Amino acid sequence: MTNPDPDVVRATFEGIAPRYDLANHLLSGGLDFLWRRRLIREAKADQPRDVLDLATGSGDVALALRKALSVEAQITGLDFCPPMLAEAERKRIAAGHSPDSLRFLQGDCLSMDFPDDSFDLVTIAFGLRNLCDRAIGLSEMQRVLRPGGRLLILEFSQPFFFLRPFYYLYLRLILPLFARWVTGDRKAYEYLGSSISGFPDRFGLAEELRQANFGKISFVSLTGAVVALHVGEKK
Ligand SMILES: C[S@@+](CC[C@H](N)C(=O)[O-])C[C@H]1O[C@@H](n2cnc3c(N)ncnc32)[C@H](O)[C@@H]1O
Repeated sequence: MTNPDPDVVRATFEGIAPRYDLANHLLSGGLDFLWRRRLIREAKADQPRDVLDLATGSGDVALALRKALSVEAQITGLDFCPPMLAEAERKRIAAGHSPDSLRFLQGDCLSMDFPDDSFDLVTIAFGLRNLCDRAIGLSEMQRVLRPGGRLLILEFSQPFFFLRPFYYLYLRLILPLFARWVTGDRKAYEYLGSSISGFPDRFGLAEELRQANFGKISFVSLTGAVVALHVGEKK
């Protein structure tokens, strides 16, 4: 698969923003809650103060971080798609969080305005796959992390062999049909399917983290490696 075109990615998420959450929960059979919960558990481990959630979208990870971390923690969600951020902002207000403790900003993960060494923790959930240049994205994540700070990547992966025939069938045939029914946008979910099947497996992504100069790299497989959680530390 070729690198995703950022204009196409932005337009895709603009189109599905109001139904993004519902589609996520239905199309994953509710497993997305468990996957994000695993990320949050890992995030809590070192009680970070300054936290950046990239490709935050409708804000579910940022909101869950807000709930799970100490009141001193400051959480920033960054995304380049205004309608997705509007969903996140709506949920922040509904949950009663102040913009001092949780803020949503518009920006591009590939060239961020934050100074070097700004964050203790960077998270990105189901966003890395959408970046048009992963190497630039990973080097930006490395730049804005403080030394010793950790990057957590939650992303679709390549499942264990015995699951692959069913899984790829689901991605190619069932997912776009079902997605059209939920969101009215079949094309968006054809993109989703092809972006997932073109993404590196757990070992490939770990190697990309190594090349981006992260240390202490590890990963866990979730749901038969349909999804993986990678961890890397800024040296
Ligand atoms: C699949 S959604 C993930 C949203 C959220 N993290 C979640 O777990 O549901 C991917 C998000 O990545 C954002 N995105 C893609 N490329 C980006 C970039 N270069 N900079 C900022 N946001 C980007 C899209 O706008 C979209 O909201």
